[in-house]
This record gives sequence, structure tokens and C-alpha cells, in this order.
Amino acid sequence: MSLKRSKIISTGRALPEKVLTNFDLEKIVDTNDEWIVKRTGIKSRHIADENTATSDLAIEASKKAMEKAGITAEEIDLIMVATVTPDMIFPSTACIVQEALGAVNAAAFDLETACSGFLYGLTIADQFIKTGMYKKILVIGAETLSKVLDWEDRKTCILFGDGAGAAIVGVSDDESEILSTHLGADGSGADFLAIPAGGSRMPATADTVAKRLHYITMDGSEVFKFAVRKMSSASLLALELAGLDVEDVDFLVPHQANIRIINSAAKKLKLPIDKVHVNLDRLGNISAGSIPIALDEAIEEGKINKGDVVVLVGFGGGLTWGSCVIRL
Ligand code: UT7
Repeated sequence: MSLKRSKIISTGRALPEKVLTNFDLEKIVDTNDEWIVKRTGIKSRHIADENTATSDLAIEASKKAMEKAGITAEEIDLIMVATVTPDMIFPSTACIVQEALGAVNAAAFDLETACSGFLYGLTIADQFIKTGMYKKILVIGAETLSKVLDWEDRKTCILFGDGAGAAIVGVSDDESEILSTHLGADGSGADFLAIPAGGSRMPATADTVAKRLHYITMDGSEVFKFAVRKMSSASLLALELAGLDVEDVDFLVPHQANIRIINSAAKKLKLPIDKVHVNLDRLGNISAGSIPIALDEAIEEGKINKGDVVVLVGFGGGLTWGSCVIRL
């Protein structure tokens, strides 16, 4: 059986309207704009209103990607939603998106690999396209992290934002191609970034709510050290798998968690910062939404063009990581 080649056909994104600045945060927790900008690079983030769930943003981003690709909902064979903030524990957010889009021929499931989720989805899509099992796959990274943040914890609530990015992956008939993907996980770091309660280990009770255990908890410095290590090693591994060198890279689309982590990855890839898409100053960390939103922005802004070699790389809770080299 000869394998097909896969490519990203189109992308789309959605952000809630409301913007929360560092100055707004100064009124909520004991923090200040100077600390947040210096330690993270973040200045503001978008926050969903009380009526907006993750699927709402996922649907909007998907419609934009479908419109750009000129494909109908019936053509979609599979929908994957990468998220740690699903509309509910089950059914999957992907099924809610499927129904809203009218993608009646699509299988649908959620992926829970935190900030690496979009790259896990892209890798799965790549495999299904290569084997010929599916022809059009919708991969979405979508989050409403503001709903699971402890707004009394300055160590976490300043970092995250809401939003969704979507990509249509299909068969390539030109130079565009997903050239390589690499995924990894290290469960020994599972406690570093988590929402402890609400699952089968610690079901929701009045006590878990009182103890604020349904919110994100994080050991920032452990995640930071892991991220710096993995962003460069995963990028280099994906390049090796693609048979390319750092000199071949035109552009980097990294997970948007902290400007210091992004700078260290750019340095390892010998890329000046103008060859790296950075939006965390405006959007904060949108976990699974971060990379597809950044990719969509970079394409729209003309920072990357057809034929360019682009590295996508991310890390997140689990711990997990992923990297992918594409020719746009
Ligand atoms: O997608 C993956 C998600 N997570 C990440 O990527 C997180 C990776 N980690 C990080 O980005 C950084 O570790 C943080 C930005 C979270 C924290 O930066 P840091 O340089 O590691 O700071 P720290 O946690 O070591 O805290 C330094 C000081 C502490 O004060 P003391 O103990 O030295 O007196 C904190 O209490 O800064 C204090 N601090 C704050 N001060 C003002 C912590 N958060 C804040 C804050 N405002 N928001």
C-alpha cells in the first residue's frame, strides 16, 4: 500500500471579546503589571463570558477554517477537539461540535493532552490521511481556562486565556506537507500541572469545592525547567525525522506559555525573534488553543508563506510534549 501525503489545508481561530489586562488583574490579586510582563511576557488575555463554553469557540474557529478551505460539513470524516476544559466530563466536546456543524459523516472524540493537544491531534490526523482511511479531518484546540482558574491564586490566574484554533488536514497534491511529527509523555510529572478534583480519584463534593480543588494547580518552576528542555529537544527531533537541519527552518510557531521559554527555543533553533510567532503578550497561554491560533495568525499576517518550513512545538500537563515540521 503506498502512503499518501498529508497537509494542513486551512486554519481558523476564535477569541472571546472581553480582554482582561494585567492592570485589571492588579485589582483582583496581589500582583502587578511589571512582574507579569518581566516574568512571563503577558500583558493581556481574552476571557469568555458566562454563557460561552469551549464548544462555542471551537465551532466558530472551525467554521472559519472550513470557509477558507471551501469544504462542507458533510465532507469532514473526523473531528478531534483537544481541550482540558471540555463543556462537561462527557459526552465529548467534539460530539457537540459535530452536531453544531452538521458534520453528519464525521467520527468525533476529545483529546486530553493539555497544551500539547493540538500537536497530538495533528499527528493522529496525519496518520489517518496517510493511510487513506480519511480524507478531511478537523483538528481543534479549544479552551475556556478562565472557568477553571483560581482567581485568588496569583501564581496561575495571571498566565492563562481563552480561545480556539482549528485546522483542516487533508491529502496533499502539491508541495505542502506535514513532514514529520514527534510526541512524548512523562507521567512522573503528572502532579506539576493538574486539576485535582472532579474525576474518579477525587469526585466532586462540597468539601472539594470548599478546598478549591477544581481549579488549576501548578508547580511553575518544575514546568518551566521541563519546558525549556523539551521545546528545543523536541524541535530538533522532529527536524531530524524530517531529514532537515536548523538551517532549513523558516519559522517557528511555539506554544505560548512564557516569553523566556520561547526565547530559549528560538536560540536553540538559531532563529531571530522575528522568525517566531509570539502572541502571548495579547492572549496569554491558551493551552491546546495556543498553537493553532498562533499558526492561523502567522499565516494571516503573511509571516509564513507557501513553501516555508515551519516548526510547531509545544509542551504541557501530563507531562506531555509534541513537535511537528510542516511545509506550508
Ligand atoms: O502550558 C504550560 C503551563 N505552564 C507553564 O508554562 C508555566 C511555566 N512556568 C513559568 O512560566 C514560571 O515558573 C512562572 C511565570 C509561573 C513563575 O515565574 P518564576 O520566575 O518561576 O517565579 P516564582 O514562582 O519562582 O516566584 C518568584 C516570586 C515569589 O515570591 P518570593 O517567594 O520570592 O517572595 C512568588 O510568590 O514571585 C512571586 N510571584 C508573584 N509576584 C507578583 C509569583 N506570582 C506572582 C505574581 N505577581 N503573579
